[in-house]
Amino acid sequence: MTDIVTRRLRLRGFSCDDVSALARYRSDARVARYQTWRSPIDQAQAQEIVAGYREEKPEGPGFFQYAIERHRRPGLIGDVAVQTEPGLDQAVLGITLAPDVRHRGYATEAMTAVATRLLAAGVRRITAACDARNTASERLLRRVGFEQ
Ligand SMILES: CC(C)(COP(=O)(O)OP(=O)(O)OC[C@H]1O[C@@H](n2cnc3c(N)ncnc32)[C@H](O)[C@@H]1OP(=O)(O)O)[C@@H](O)C(=O)NCCC(=O)NCCS
Repeated sequence: MTDIVTRRLRLRGFSCDDVSALARYRSDARVARYQTWRSPIDQAQAQEIVAGYREEKPEGPGFFQYAIERHRRPGLIGDVAVQTEPGLDQAVLGITLAPDVRHRGYATEAMTAVATRLLAAGVRRITAACDARNTASERLLRRVGFEQ
């Protein structure tokens, strides 16, 4: 089963309805600043990205991108990227939230839930990397329990 339900959030696979929201937050300079992807992106590029996400399988190995949405106000607000290594005992996580929904603990809630699922599935080591200037990400990773 793909979906992960937390107190305030539902993490699910991507759908075609997510294209516009993804294009919007990925094109925001505050979001793209410390990321490796190209920005801004247009609708066609976002469509291609979402189509790729829809091909991915959550059970791994390989990449899977969770779409994040709120129970009380459905619609894409961010995503959690999971890369599971062959053998499924190691994983790498990354997260992005739209700027207008930050500072509410959603990223902490989403990352914790995905890490918990991975550990329950037998993953023994989870890593994440961020730019040293990305202090919001560093605080997030510490809150979730990552060690530097
Ligand atoms: C990294 C990123 C996801 C962090 O988002 P965030 O909003 O800071 O993280 P959370 O949603 O967990 O919110 C936690 C913050 O909200 C505060 N907060 C407010 N209400 C809260 C609540 N009800 N519950 C928990 N925290 C709450 C916390 O105190 C914390 O603030 P602090 O970091 O100043 O101490 C976000 O900055 C982002 O998307 N950046 C762009 C993409 C990126 O760089 N990703 C990282 C690459 S891995």
